[in-house]
Amino acid sequence: MKHIALIATTIACFGGFLFGYDTGVISSVLVMPTFFKDLGIDPKAQPDYVSEVKGNVVALLQAGCCAGAILINFFADRWGRKFAIVLSSIIFVVGGILQVVAHNMDTMLAGRFVAGFGVGANSMLVPMYIAEIAPRRLRGRLGTLWQFLIVIGIMLSYWIGYGCLNNIAAGSLQWKVPLGIQIIPGGILVIGIPFMPESLRWLAAHGKMDQCRKTLANIRDVPEDDPSVIQEMEEIERAIELERESKSLRISEIFASSNLRRLFIGCMLQLFQQWTGTNAINYYAPEIFQAIGLSSAETQVLATGVYGCVKVAFVFVSFFMVDTKLGRRRTLMIGSVIMCAAFYILGGMIYMILQQPPNSAVGAKGYIAIIMVYVFAIGYEFSWGPIVWIVCSEIYPTRIRAMCLSLTTAINWAMNATIAKVTPIMLLNIPYGTYFLFGSFAVVMGLFVYFLLPETRGRSLEQMDEVFGQGILAFRHDNSVPTEKLHDDEERAVERHE
Ligand code: GLC
Repeated sequence: MKHIALIATTIACFGGFLFGYDTGVISSVLVMPTFFKDLGIDPKAQPDYVSEVKGNVVALLQAGCCAGAILINFFADRWGRKFAIVLSSIIFVVGGILQVVAHNMDTMLAGRFVAGFGVGANSMLVPMYIAEIAPRRLRGRLGTLWQFLIVIGIMLSYWIGYGCLNNIAAGSLQWKVPLGIQIIPGGILVIGIPFMPESLRWLAAHGKMDQCRKTLANIRDVPEDDPSVIQEMEEIERAIELERESKSLRISEIFASSNLRRLFIGCMLQLFQQWTGTNAINYYAPEIFQAIGLSSAETQVLATGVYGCVKVAFVFVSFFMVDTKLGRRRTLMIGSVIMCAAFYILGGMIYMILQQPPNSAVGAKGYIAIIMVYVFAIGYEFSWGPIVWIVCSEIYPTRIRAMCLSLTTAINWAMNATIAKVTPIMLLNIPYGTYFLFGSFAVVMGLFVYFLLPETRGRSLEQMDEVFGQGILAFRHDNSVPTEKLHDDEERAVERHE
């Protein structure tokens, strides 16, 4: 394992921790009694206003995320990926500090938006940075670290919120501690990233070939004249050359057929990832467990905490599976089948539970329903959770990668906000139908992957043109032979130097 690539990836992944922590922490902060009082709102006197403000506190983060994902690509292209990550992390820290020192709701909302800007920007930058420095045989695995840190952030936010609620006496500290913790990973990024290598593809695209070669040798931990460095430099140079030859405007490049197809695939994958329903459960798990029959807040929060642990465990499984022969396509299809089955059974159980008299004890149906929530988490976390981020970060040509990733990531956040908004309405109006709807989406997603997503595992970023140059119907491609060969060739080259 090449240490620098791993350390750089791990540090960058703190952006993932922020992503998970920030989206998860607010649910417990909102139920802390002093949160509203400290910000000058009396929850009892203004209940309607409070529910409106609650929605804003949650949604402004996602609005900031959307803006960050779109606007940061300019900086990432012009001044480099590292600079952009540091910039967005500084913005994030400012947003975090604003939230902690807030004395009124306006400052809190401003803090949520500013912090969201940093989270959204990093959610576009970090997967791109990882893909641009990782050796191709480890790209999937290092990309999975991103999702791993997201779910660790979500899980810790559940448990920290629970711990603060139960162990810190009601007062400002109770909500300031969980909100303040986010500043730590933000600070680690600001301090750590400047010491990390710059993205290889960005260096090459800006004509800094010597620096690129040095950085590459350093990351791969081999001398500069090593055959593997020479081969990878040739690939990078060839791709950059091709990009230079094209005199067209970048916007028009996106509309070149293969690029447009890739953009379409990236946008659909991000849209589908949110319509798996993952955030419906992330944000509303306690309510869902209540509907299943867990009556006390403690058991609901406990079941939610276990849900967080299941998520972490199965991203870990994905870490070992993503770069194996199973590949991206098959893993996504298997994940779709598991999620579909879990949601259909969950919907069926909730339908039957609703036929029972209210407040009945949790019976077999309730336990099956709880298990199905966990089975969904398993299906999602080893497939659609990490792989969508990985595929989006690896399919675009360097020249338009930042721009395309901005768009696909913004779609992720826009859909995330939509799910956050519509889920409570759906749960109220179509309690079991909500799960049938998500289950049906899983079927569509599986078909989408089968027909349209070519296999990208084991291909270098420079070979994606070839992968997407084949016919549109992905199931007709035979990627297995060249992919295996490439994989083995590279493994042999790496083994020779280890
Ligand atoms: C993916 C999603 C994100 C979600 C996370 C955990 O990273 O993009 O919205 O919170 O998975 O479920």
